[in-house]
Amino acid sequence: MTALRTCVFPCAGFGTRFFPATKVIPKEMLPLVDKPILQYGIEEALGSGLDKLIVVMSKGKDAILDHFDRTAELERSLQERKKNDLLSEVETVSTMADLISVRQKEALGLGHAVLQAKDAVGNEPFAVVLPDDVILANEPCLLQMRRVFEETGRPVIALMEVSAAETTRYGIVAGNMLGNRRFHITDMVEKPKVNPPSHYAIIGRYILPPDVFPLLEKTERGAGGEIQLTDALRELVRTGDFYGYVFEGKRYDAGEKLGYLKATVDYALRHPAVGSEFRTYLQSLFGNDVPKNRQN
Ligand code: UTP
Repeated sequence: MTALRTCVFPCAGFGTRFFPATKVIPKEMLPLVDKPILQYGIEEALGSGLDKLIVVMSKGKDAILDHFDRTAELERSLQERKKNDLLSEVETVSTMADLISVRQKEALGLGHAVLQAKDAVGNEPFAVVLPDDVILANEPCLLQMRRVFEETGRPVIALMEVSAAETTRYGIVAGNMLGNRRFHITDMVEKPKVNPPSHYAIIGRYILPPDVFPLLEKTERGAGGEIQLTDALRELVRTGDFYGYVFEGKRYDAGEKLGYLKATVDYALRHPAVGSEFRTYLQSLFGNDVPKNRQN
């Protein structure tokens, strides 16, 4: 089995749920406390042992590549002014990853975005991280999933348990729970209005074989006129075992306003520099029951 080393970050969507903030600024560059949303995803991939990182870009998103690039002038200025802490933070970001960028010329959907990475990925398994699904976890979510992939050699997607009412808002898997957080998937249903096949929702982490590319090439436009990744995954399910992994941690949909606000509060409370003062501030608003280490 070829080792997993590649991760694809689809970043070419319009981010309409966050308008007007994301009219010009890519939503992947909105800060969660002091790091752009995408950086959390990049750190998760690196922390899971993946170092070939491919970003699917579109027009107007160059700030993403600039963020991870060297900024010689800024670094020189910080050096001259002996701002060593800031310098080391800037250097850490500009050297953490060499991103490969591919272009999606038209926002034709997530499936189409992933397909644009086909040549850059090559004939190897790869992960997909949707950057606006931010996951706070003790162990990176992709690393948790990677173990299942390495044991089985089969596709793995991250799952989250949701309430019965919430099943209408997610892609929901059908199949059976094997135990040990593993779910054997036999089908997927997009936003079921009635009779959800389970309470496990698909979230934005996938480990896939290259066999998904020919399936994506054949996938016609589906819901919303877009080429849906889920449609190709349903085909992939038919070709053999396909697993879900109920990851440990908390996921935020930072691509919409409320999810972004929740993530900001939880990340701020855990931040080494501002966490304690922020907690004091929240306590001044809401009383003393702001817990020390919010995660679940
Ligand atoms: P989303 O639906 O969350 O992102 O797609 P969006 O389309 O940018 O946002 P809204 O719904 O308009 O607010 C999931 C991921 O897929 C990427 C997005 O950038 C996001 O990371 N995507 C989506 C693409 O790269 N290309 C597309 O054509 C669509």
